[in-house]
Amino acid sequence: MHKKLLIPGPTEVSQEILREQSRYLIGHREKAFSDLYGEIKSKLTKFFELSDSYNPTVTTSSGTLWFDIVARSIVKEKALVCVNGAFSSRFAKTIQFCGKKVDVIEVDWGKAIKTSMVAEKLESSKYDTVVMCHNESSTGVRNPIYEVGDLIRSNYPDLLFAVDSVSSMAGDKIIPKTIGCDVVFASSQKCFALPPGLCISIVSDRAIERANNVSNRGSYTDLVKIFDFEKKNQTPFTPNISLLYALNKRMDLLIKETYARVYERHLEMAKCTRDWAKTHFELFPEPGFESVTLTCIKNTLEKNIKELIEKLALRGFMISNGYGMLKEKTFRIGHMGEWNTIEVKKVLDIIDDIWGL
Ligand SMILES: Cc1ncc(COP(=O)(O)O)c(C=O)c1O
Repeated sequence: MHKKLLIPGPTEVSQEILREQSRYLIGHREKAFSDLYGEIKSKLTKFFELSDSYNPTVTTSSGTLWFDIVARSIVKEKALVCVNGAFSSRFAKTIQFCGKKVDVIEVDWGKAIKTSMVAEKLESSKYDTVVMCHNESSTGVRNPIYEVGDLIRSNYPDLLFAVDSVSSMAGDKIIPKTIGCDVVFASSQKCFALPPGLCISIVSDRAIERANNVSNRGSYTDLVKIFDFEKKNQTPFTPNISLLYALNKRMDLLIKETYARVYERHLEMAKCTRDWAKTHFELFPEPGFESVTLTCIKNTLEKNIKELIEKLALRGFMISNGYGMLKEKTFRIGHMGEWNTIEVKKVLDIIDDIWGL
């Protein structure tokens, strides 16, 4: 039996989207491909309200490739990385693995990084790049990227700001120009509700200029090469054309729904899930910093989460246990992509039924 996915990615993909991938292939150096890719980029530009200084690009990769791209092509010498969960910790390590210096601001899982913490660090040392994860999927914490972006843009003109929006972009509100970030990226299997395999990114002109002055950018991680090919609406290497068909369709659906409504729908799902969670349990993130696309719930009733997941599977749905050390201590419900409040509520009712809440 198919289990509908309410995990923090991959999320449920509709038949309509799955069918798009069964189209005949085209050559990636053909005009037909450049037309397709150009169309996708125009739709990304429209949906994310990109001005001339922001450039969309789609890599055939999962989101993690962009940890490496930021490390190799953007960070010149030293980055400040905000760490409050598993993914931001991995981002910091990736930059170190690529041979660059890293300072971290680290807080406990469940806590958010505050703008004042970033301000303090920036005053005490010199960095060329700040890295922040918008939506820590391991803890359900949403970091204040708009305030941090404002701090950086108002005070540090040469500092670049890279944002991991892997599990929030196209669900939560991500307007790169308003954030003032230089790189922001998301995996296709999260709010874009596509199969995994693409990473949708938006890069500022400043970031491309920086990359031109960074050496040892690698090959698949070379931002300059990526944007050289963007000029002809191509990618440096063979892209996943089937997934690009699906992304093209997804952008039509998102544009039709409108940004405002997509965001509102995600806010409604988050509110419904949080209200349910607070009735029986507690939220894991500190108040005021809860994710809009997934809810991480503290298992205050000490329920058996593994067993719940197995029982829920028999009813056709899947949620997630806590991440890593938070296994059984928390559980996570992903409400991203094509889900809506009515459907999420049905699943919460089934959980009530299983647990007799
Ligand atoms: C916040 C965050 N960053 C990065 C990643 C890694 O993305 P991917 O698995 O697409 O490489 C994930 C995956 O769940 C994530 O949630």
